[in-house]
Amino acid sequence: THLEMFVDKLPDMPRLQAYRIRNSFLEPGNLTIGMYEKIWKFHRDLPATRVYAYGTSRAAATVPGPTIEALQGIPTHITWENHLPSRHILSWDPTIPIPSAPSGVPTVVHLHGGVHPPTSDGHSHAWFTSNFSYVGPSFSSPTSSYPNLQDPGNLWYHDHAIGLTRVNILAGLLGAYTLRSPALESPLRLPHGPEFDRHLILFDRSFLSDGSLFINSTGNNPSIHPQWQPEYFGDALIVNGKAWPFLRVRPRRYRFRIINASNARFYRLFFSNSLTFLHLSSDSVYLSRPVPSRKFLLGPSEIADVIVNFADSPSQSVILLNDASYPFPTGDQPDEFKSSRPVARAKAAAAPPPPPTPEHRAAATRYIAMFEYESATGEPTHLYINGKPYDAPVTETPRSGTSEVWHVINLTDDNHPLHIHLGLFVVLEQRELVGVEKLKDCMMRINDVDKCRLKDHAKGRADPVPAHEKGWKNVFKMQPGFVTRILVRFAMLRSEKPYPFDAAAEPGYVYHCHILDHEDNMMMRPLKLLN
Ligand code: C2O
Ligand code: CU
Repeated sequence: THLEMFVDKLPDMPRLQAYRIRNSFLEPGNLTIGMYEKIWKFHRDLPATRVYAYGTSRAAATVPGPTIEALQGIPTHITWENHLPSRHILSWDPTIPIPSAPSGVPTVVHLHGGVHPPTSDGHSHAWFTSNFSYVGPSFSSPTSSYPNLQDPGNLWYHDHAIGLTRVNILAGLLGAYTLRSPALESPLRLPHGPEFDRHLILFDRSFLSDGSLFINSTGNNPSIHPQWQPEYFGDALIVNGKAWPFLRVRPRRYRFRIINASNARFYRLFFSNSLTFLHLSSDSVYLSRPVPSRKFLLGPSEIADVIVNFADSPSQSVILLNDASYPFPTGDQPDEFKSSRPVARAKAAAAPPPPPTPEHRAAATRYIAMFEYESATGEPTHLYINGKPYDAPVTETPRSGTSEVWHVINLTDDNHPLHIHLGLFVVLEQRELVGVEKLKDCMMRINDVDKCRLKDHAKGRADPVPAHEKGWKNVFKMQPGFVTRILVRFAMLRSEKPYPFDAAAEPGYVYHCHILDHEDNMMMRPLKLLN
């Protein structure tokens, strides 16, 4: 497909208010959001594409789905309904663990970055098909409740069905969720309102000439996995549901909440005229002070919340570009959206997050090793964390109200964005491993950090954590050949208190690589909290 760039206007997704005002009191909102098959125009010159879309009705459904607007302290209850037909529009792979539904498209919705009970976490085994005809073993209720007690910030919702996440999200099942706190945020005097406070939801897709979504139907190791491929990359860059859109801007400050909703693509974003970004938050939490950058790397599912001041633009028109290689870090590709007018002085402060628990007070230390397995032809077949498949008994069981230090040992050649449900973490150190092949051989045989002498290998250079990523994160890019040390907090952010809900309930949580093609082929493990 050769599509002309900058011909479609950047869309804004519909906004859904997740609370009610009655007799001047704020009350929890009850939303019903369905998943519908429909057609969607990704580009002026591309025939309409069959997609799966979230919306309050088929007619209202969009790709990405509506942006849910919630208020801190006011719970949101969402009933998620599946109205999808009996056959999937994309091909998937029966040789990796998938739902046992005899027909229908299994789906389940996870609110990424949400601090909520396990029963509302969209557990990958809590899937359901149309009319709840078939449901997974962990399914409990069509309605999820999000307490919204966490700090204000940026979340997103997306599909999380076991073994189908990569195809369900590829088909369009994703959307943004904004948690606001007028009391905390109004004093910051940030750009607001739909014109100046907008999302940029990025993903890449390939299309056939009839407009349909393209995903390879033959695997890289067809005799092992007939369809699974280690990474999906599309050749068109989509922002808010349009390929290479443009935005006409005024010479003033804008706030962009940039979500990388791609399966596997990393973006290293910068402006063609080197206009700066001022980072307000990373993932779901504000930084303690805004941090400027000219270029930054956004891994799958990471969120950058930035101010761009087009009054500072030295040119009339500016292009947001990407030069990250794919797979990351090995390949290359650029281009994004265009704004036809220049940006003001960015001035912002943010609600300061508390400092982390000192490392020596951490309740536990864990080692999380990332392995990739290959076929005789040297092609990836599957990826495991600590050499274990997802369904092996739980090994990570933190206590609610505590912090832990995790050493994430990446023994593969790819960068893996590790996402932990429920917890927030700070990145303490990224340390290169020396003699990584030897360590890998040993770890893949016995997975024992003492016997494999991790200490002797963790002696390479330390790669500094970028300033805009020194705050609280829920996903971070684990570099290949590095051990990355993180301090994970399994407690409410503003206190050392256990979560104000039963975080130890079934079905528990998960943590995983957010390259969706890896997550589906078992780079995911259960996470079970203890009281
Ligand atoms: Cu954004 Cu477990 O997911
Ligand atoms: Cu991965």
